[in-house]
Amino acid sequence: MSSNPLSIDGKVIIVTGGGKGIGRVYCQEFAKAGAKVVAADIDHDANEDTVAAIRGAGGEAITATTDVSDDEKTVEMARKAVEAFGRIDGLVNNASLMSVLERRDWKEIPNDEWDRVMDVNLRGIFSCCKAVFPQMKAQGGGKIVNISSGRFWNGTPNRLHYSTSKAGVIGLTRSLAREVGIDNINVNAITPGFTLSDTQISSSGEYAKNNAPPSDRCIQRHQYPEDLAGAVMFLLSQGSDFISGQTLNVDGGQFMH
Ligand SMILES: NC(=O)c1ccc[n+]([C@@H]2O[C@H](COP(=O)([O-])OP(=O)(O)OC[C@H]3O[C@@H](n4cnc5c(N)ncnc54)[C@H](O)[C@@H]3O)[C@@H](O)[C@H]2O)c1
Repeated sequence: MSSNPLSIDGKVIIVTGGGKGIGRVYCQEFAKAGAKVVAADIDHDANEDTVAAIRGAGGEAITATTDVSDDEKTVEMARKAVEAFGRIDGLVNNASLMSVLERRDWKEIPNDEWDRVMDVNLRGIFSCCKAVFPQMKAQGGGKIVNISSGRFWNGTPNRLHYSTSKAGVIGLTRSLAREVGIDNINVNAITPGFTLSDTQISSSGEYAKNNAPPSDRCIQRHQYPEDLAGAVMFLLSQGSDFISGQTLNVDGGQFMH
C-alpha cells in the first residue's frame, strides 16, 4: 500500500463505458496515476482507442468489451480483469444510456426505451457488482463507485427514464453498501453536473457549447470530465476507506445537500 492515502498507484480498476466520453477520461486519468485499467465499454473500437491512448502514454490497460445489461458478459469482464492483473480493486459503474436518448416529453417515451434504460443504467450496475463481488470478497475488500447524476437533486425534466434510473443508482448504492460492508467493500456514488464530455457535446450540440454555465454554480465555468476524475479517484483510494453509502455531488457547487 502506498504511503500516500490518496494514491491509486497499482490498483486494478474496471471502468464500464470506458471507451468514450467521461469514461475514457476516467481510464486515462487513472492510468496516469499508476492504476491498471480495464476499459469495459459496449463499443469494442472505442475500448481499443482508450487502451491504445493509455499504452501510448506508458500506462497499463486492457479492453474487456462488455454489455453491462448481459450477466454473462459482466462475468466475462471480471474474469478478464483477474486474468490480466490478478485482482479487482475498483469498479466504476459509469456505462449508461444518456447521450443517445432524445430529450422529450415524458408521455412520449416508448415503454421499450424505458425498459432498455433501466436494463443498462440500473440492472447493469447490479450485474457488474455481482460479477466483481466474489473476487473483491476473496481478496479482502474493494471499492465500487456508481455514477449517478445531478438530475437526482434537480429533478431535471425531459429524460424521465434516465432521471429515474439515476435516482435508483442512489438507492442501490445505499442498500448495497450496507450489505457488503462486512466484506470490506465500500460502495459510493457521485452526482456529476452538466459535463461537456465529447458524447454530451455531440448529443446536445450548440446548447452544450454556447450556453453559459448555470448561474447558481459557485464555480462559474463549464464542467469537464477532468473535474470528475479526482472525486472518483478519492473514492477508489485508501483515503475513503471509512466512507460508504454516500453520494458526493461534483458540480461546481450548484446543488448543496
Ligand atoms: N455528461 C454529463 O453531463 C453527465 C451528467 C451527469 C451524469 N453523467 C453520467 O456520467 C456517465 C458518463 O457520461 P458521458 O457524458 O460520458 O456520456 P454517455 O452516457 O453517452 O457515455 C456512456 C458510455 O457508456 C457506453 N455504454 C452504453 N451502453 C452500454 C452498455 N450496455 N454496456 C457498456 N457500455 C455501454 C457508451 O458506449 C458510452 O461510451 C454516465 O453514467 C452519465 O449518465 C453524465
